Amino acid sequence: MIKDIYSDPELYDSAHWWKTNDIDFITNSANKFGSPILELGAGTGRLALPILEMGHTYTGIESSPAFVKSTKNKLAQFGEKSTVLEGDMRSFDLDQTFQFIFIGFNSIFHLLTNEDVKSCFKCIHKHLTEEGTFLIDTFIPDPLFLYRDKQKYYVMEFDTSDGVHCIVSETNEYDNETQINHIQWYFNYEGKADPEVFKFDMHMIFPDTMDRLLMDAGLKIMEKYGDYEKTPLGPESQLQIHECKK
Ligand SMILES: C[S@@+](CC[C@H](N)C(=O)[O-])C[C@H]1O[C@@H](n2cnc3c(N)ncnc32)[C@H](O)[C@@H]1O
Repeated sequence: MIKDIYSDPELYDSAHWWKTNDIDFITNSANKFGSPILELGAGTGRLALPILEMGHTYTGIESSPAFVKSTKNKLAQFGEKSTVLEGDMRSFDLDQTFQFIFIGFNSIFHLLTNEDVKSCFKCIHKHLTEEGTFLIDTFIPDPLFLYRDKQKYYVMEFDTSDGVHCIVSETNEYDNETQINHIQWYFNYEGKADPEVFKFDMHMIFPDTMDRLLMDAGLKIMEKYGDYEKTPLGPESQLQIHECKK
């Protein structure tokens, strides 16, 4: 059986233990732009936790019911300062505006058409205060990765909460018509003959398209960074980080 990668919050957290390089960047942005803060694709609260620990007021929208349940429990200690809602970043109406809205860790790539991305950006526009900031962080799609030979490649390794070592490998199939990369992850647990298989799709949004979609939604691009140290976006950049205002 092939599973959804966003169905098991505990496994997701164990597998992504290494993803810490964006935390200072996001918390510094939260401190600079201020509360209230809205995150779209909130996941398991990886970025919500340090933001709330700094005293901010945080709302997260997340589509996976299992992730929402687990994140609500994880953030319950912050009481009214934290709100986690099950919802879809393509269409939401919170009857509230935010000083800082962000989409971290490539989550926008789960919106599989430009129309979906545009409606998400329009919702963001509607939920920003007049002086508010929207920040979006994704990698820059790499054709060498998309068109590589069809075989399994190493992704990462981790220990499960039960202490079982797991090595993750992947295959991908890129459709250049739809610009969707179809990915399968194979979780190979020590002592188990067959891997557990997960699949997910990512819409490869290249920098020129990202700029156009942001501007089409009425968002003004104020800064474009190529990494978390705020190096200006350039030919060597691996990330595209946009800071926008209305
Ligand atoms: C790569 S994870 C990132 C999670 C979290 N932001 C982090 O940095 O750890 C992407 C998240 O986006 C969520 N997601 C995907 N499509 C969504 C949608 N249309 N609306 C809201 N959340 C969505 C997934 O369920 C998943 O939790």
